[in-house]
Amino acid sequence: ASLEGVDSTVPPTNRVQDRHQPAVGAPVDYFANTPDTDPSLVANQSWGRDILARIPGSVLANDIVNSTRVRELTELNRIVDTAVASAKEWGALGGAGRAAILHRAGDVMESRRAAFMEVMASETGKTLDQSDPEISEAIDFAHYYAERAKDLETVDGATFVPAHLTVVTPPWNFPVAIPAGSTLSALAAGSAVIIKPATQARRSGSLMVQALWDAGVPRDVLALVQLEERELGRALVSHPAVDRVILTGGYETAELFRSFRNDLPLLAETSGKNAIIVTPSADLDLAARDVVQSAFGHAGQKCSAASLVIMVGSVAKSARFRNQLIDAVSSLSVGYPETATTQMGPVIEPAAGKLLTALTTLEPGESWAIEPRQLDASGCLWSPGVRTGVAAGSNVHLTEFFGPILGIMTAETLEEAIAMVNAIDYGLTSGLHSLDSAEIGLWLDTVQAGNLYVNRGITGAIVQRQPFGGWKKSAVGAGTKAGGPNYLMGLGSWLPAESAE
Ligand code: SER
Repeated sequence: ASLEGVDSTVPPTNRVQDRHQPAVGAPVDYFANTPDTDPSLVANQSWGRDILARIPGSVLANDIVNSTRVRELTELNRIVDTAVASAKEWGALGGAGRAAILHRAGDVMESRRAAFMEVMASETGKTLDQSDPEISEAIDFAHYYAERAKDLETVDGATFVPAHLTVVTPPWNFPVAIPAGSTLSALAAGSAVIIKPATQARRSGSLMVQALWDAGVPRDVLALVQLEERELGRALVSHPAVDRVILTGGYETAELFRSFRNDLPLLAETSGKNAIIVTPSADLDLAARDVVQSAFGHAGQKCSAASLVIMVGSVAKSARFRNQLIDAVSSLSVGYPETATTQMGPVIEPAAGKLLTALTTLEPGESWAIEPRQLDASGCLWSPGVRTGVAAGSNVHLTEFFGPILGIMTAETLEEAIAMVNAIDYGLTSGLHSLDSAEIGLWLDTVQAGNLYVNRGITGAIVQRQPFGGWKKSAVGAGTKAGGPNYLMGLGSWLPAESAE
């Protein structure tokens, strides 16, 4: 079963990528690391143990916890000092010198595609149809930022001066592509990096870092840490030697980070609550497919996921689209990622808090079009849920759940639907299904979100083609989009050419 038959030497034909960020969980627990042997961690990963046991000769998968476990502040300070000291030499390689190493990093990751997929399935329950394109995204970041590194010369009389030290704190839900993108961008821009992978996805992060080391990034320049005390997280993020913190995570985590240090140089991609609008002029077959993929890929655990579909006018009044959607969601194959055909896997942890409430209770006026069911005792595996009658201003309209739940809203007009989208505090991705150019124009001009997709799913931004980043509470301190032409420019400083060292 499972990964047999996945040939890592075959380049993917579909290089759509997906990555994401966390949102569930109290921010104070952000740095609460648990040792690898913690039984509760292993219990949550029973699907993973099964997979790993079946992969023969998977050296990487078995021996990838290569990070430095930091227990004391003095040790953390030593790592910071080493990274800062090594940054000068790394910066001195110049854009072209760094680019050669980063291109190689892309090639090393490609050669380890299957190992990455195993580990991601093991740690995060990510299905193979999601992890394969995620590796592609990581590789795309390597080659893209390598090329952009060559642009960092003198522009209009100003010279780019690399940051000394960037701290990268990625999420668990895109456990390879996001740590890779953040780390590669900072390295490309000439900075040393200290990365602390998400606790739930340390092995995936470790495997990514190992690939970069093996490609030639010095270990002093790229340090991989686990922090054994929560206080060490605060100390790292707020360390005065840190020039930039790249966070992908919940909005609350960004707020927590900012509370550590007033002038924290934070670049954060945060939460999302995203909708796809479907108008009467849409290709409804295409819309149904895209809504289902965007809502339930990775069990909805993406900042970019579609959490709402807003049906406009006759789309709302006739049963056709609704029935088509319900049929498509009901036919999803749900299970653990050890089965290659699984389309929707488990959620990362036993559903709790906001997500559990969303999976199990309705608000006034709502009803289940498809009621989610807990499929086993783990608390992680749920069938997808679709709720109708979601009212403007309700919890389901405005709150991010980060799980396999889709809400149906209805609007008389496109303008009304856009107002529903814009009433949301977040503004990350947004979708429109319409074949009418006037509708498309109106929507593009007025909808408030960073990544806009017309007649396409709203997850899986493609590096270079769809630079990724949000508005409103979906971004904190971010000015430029990841995977876009200006991202590296914001990762250092620009000085008048004559004063730059
Ligand atoms: N970039 C991812 C996506 O587009 C989310 O982080 O889905």
